[in-house]
Amino acid sequence: MIVTRTTADVRDALGGGRDGTVGLVPTMGALHAGHASLLQAARAECDTVVASVFVNPAQFAPAEDLDRYPRDEAADLGALEDAGVDVAFLPAPQAIYPPGYQTWVDVTEVGRGLEGDARPGHFRGVATVCLRLFLIVEPDRAYFGQKDAQQAAVVERLVRDLELPLAIRVLPIVRDADGLALSSRNAYLSADERRAALGLPRALDAGERAWLVGRDAAEAAREELAAEPGLVPDYVEVAEWDGRRVLAAAVRVGGTRLIDNVVLEEAG
Ligand code: PAJ
Repeated sequence: MIVTRTTADVRDALGGGRDGTVGLVPTMGALHAGHASLLQAARAECDTVVASVFVNPAQFAPAEDLDRYPRDEAADLGALEDAGVDVAFLPAPQAIYPPGYQTWVDVTEVGRGLEGDARPGHFRGVATVCLRLFLIVEPDRAYFGQKDAQQAAVVERLVRDLELPLAIRVLPIVRDADGLALSSRNAYLSADERRAALGLPRALDAGERAWLVGRDAAEAAREELAAEPGLVPDYVEVAEWDGRRVLAAAVRVGGTRLIDNVVLEEAG
C-alpha cells in the first residue's frame, strides 16, 4: 500500500495504474466494519482501490466535535492495508484547502431538511470535499454508506448535476449484533449511553413495522423514542431521495449525536 499525503503524491501513485478501474472510498477514519464493507466492495469491483482518511473541518460547525473526533492513524493504516487498499490518501487540511481556498459547492435542495437543517453548512462541506477528492483521484466508482442516507443522495445529485464521469455505489448499513449502526462516534458512548442508544434502531424498527401495516412510520418511531428517557430526539422524518424512501432519525445521547435510518421502499 502506498501512503500519500499531498494531491501531487496521490496523482503520482495513480499515474501508472490508469489502465484499469479506480475505486475511491472516502472516510474520516476511526475505521470500523461499516467502512470495511465499502472497502471490500471497492476491492471486489475495481483494479485499484484508493481510500482517503480526512477529518474534513469544513463539514463541522464551530460548536461540533471536530477537535475530539476520534483519530488513530496507525490503526486506520492497518485496517486499510488489511482491506487490500492500494493507495491511502491522508491529506493535511491545507492539502485540501490551501491558503486562500474559497470555492464551495452547494447541493441546494437535497441538502436541505433533516441533517441539512440540523447542521447548517454540513453538506456544503461534504459536497466540496467529495468534489475535491473526485477531481484529485478521478475514480471510476466511489463508495458510500446508506448509514448517511442524505449524504449519499447529496453526492449522487452532485455527480449528476456536474456530469462527473463516475458511478456512486451506496452500500447497506452495517450494524452491531445488538442493532446499533456502526459509527465512529459510538466511541463517545458510555456503557449506559450505549444501552440507551439502542432505542434508536428499535424506534426505526417500530416505524418500519408500522409503515408495513399502513400506519405513520415517523409517528410510531417517535412514540418508541419517547419511551427511552436517555435519548433526546432531534428529528424523526420520512424522506425520499433518489427513489429511496427512508425513515431517518437523529438523536442525542448525552453529548453524542447519532443518526440512523431504515429504507421503507426502493423505487421499482
Ligand atoms: P465517515 O463517517 O468516516 O464515513 C465514511 C463512509 O462510511 C460514508 O459513506 C458512510 O456512510 C459510511 N459508513 C459509516 N458507517 C457505516 C455503517 N455502519 N454501515 C455502512 N456504511 C457506513 O461520511 C463521512 O465519513 C464523510 O462525510 C465523508 C463522506 C468522508 C466526507 O468527508
